Amino acid sequence: MSSPIKHFLNTQDWSVAELNATLDEAEAFKRSKLGKQLEGRSIALLFFNPSMRTRTSFELGAWQLGGKAIVLQPGKDAWPVEFDFGTVMDGEAEEHIAEVARVLSRYVDMIGVRAFPKFVDWSVDRQDKVLNGFAKYATVPVINMETITHPCQELAHAMALRERFGKDLRGRKYVLTWTYHPKALNTAVANSALTIATRLGMDVTLLCPTPDYVLDERYMDWAEQNVAESGGALTVSHDIESAYKDADVVYAKSWGALPYFGNWADEKPIRDQYKHFIVDSTKMALTRNGVFSHCLPLRRNIKATDEVMDSPACIAIDEAENRLHVQKAVMSALMRAQH
Ligand code: CP
Repeated sequence: MSSPIKHFLNTQDWSVAELNATLDEAEAFKRSKLGKQLEGRSIALLFFNPSMRTRTSFELGAWQLGGKAIVLQPGKDAWPVEFDFGTVMDGEAEEHIAEVARVLSRYVDMIGVRAFPKFVDWSVDRQDKVLNGFAKYATVPVINMETITHPCQELAHAMALRERFGKDLRGRKYVLTWTYHPKALNTAVANSALTIATRLGMDVTLLCPTPDYVLDERYMDWAEQNVAESGGALTVSHDIESAYKDADVVYAKSWGALPYFGNWADEKPIRDQYKHFIVDSTKMALTRNGVFSHCLPLRRNIKATDEVMDSPACIAIDEAENRLHVQKAVMSALMRAQH
């Protein structure tokens, strides 16, 4: 019997040893960018949503290792795809995931997928149908390029933290802070930050305005499970001052409150009350000379001030660069696992 395909859908599916080995390889790629690990290999990058960093870093990373990336935007330059089963396909979709994933698998060696939630019904979005549809039908490894989690960002973030604090991040005080944004955004990066920070044994505080902004129970459960295994800690706080006090890391992200999912007009006046969650130098002064990061893109002076973004504490550019290195390491690891 053939062994199951190794995908990169979530970091939670990979062991800490595998994640650390991937980060070590990413550090080697940072020192020496060219290689032959993907010689003769190819990856299809399916973007159902926009990107700057993910697209650039995956395309370039594949090329730097001797491989080829093909970008497809279903609904724009490729056929719209249906992901439900038993559907009478009389709408926009011209083909079904069952064909798309299997046909692409005959052409390429890996498939990357970016597909954000539709923001109408969280019970539907949390099924991650697009990513799981590809994982179900593809006969090659699938990489999550951000759906309802963002594991590539997690690795880039972890790498940036290792660069500042060393490989052992256990016990570092880590604050994942909600920040304001005029729109209700995806919880993917927040889910991911919580996952990786607890996995690496940090003392994690999830700072958000009210209990309605706590993350989905799947990711809260992962975090609880992670701290039990890693010796880290997890606290939910709605108090800015105590959360920032003595923090080593402040990671900011905005997201919409899950109980209001699909009813964003009602959530907006609540969200608008918490513009003061912006990351500024007064809050950063409470930290223990802590670093600040964000996955980018970031609206300056909405999520974080110019002063914070331009300060030596800000490692967001390092984290963005690290996307290139960690993704090369992930692609290389997946190709090795195929043999
Ligand atoms: N952080 C991130 O994924 O950036 P893009 O949306 O530009 O790809």
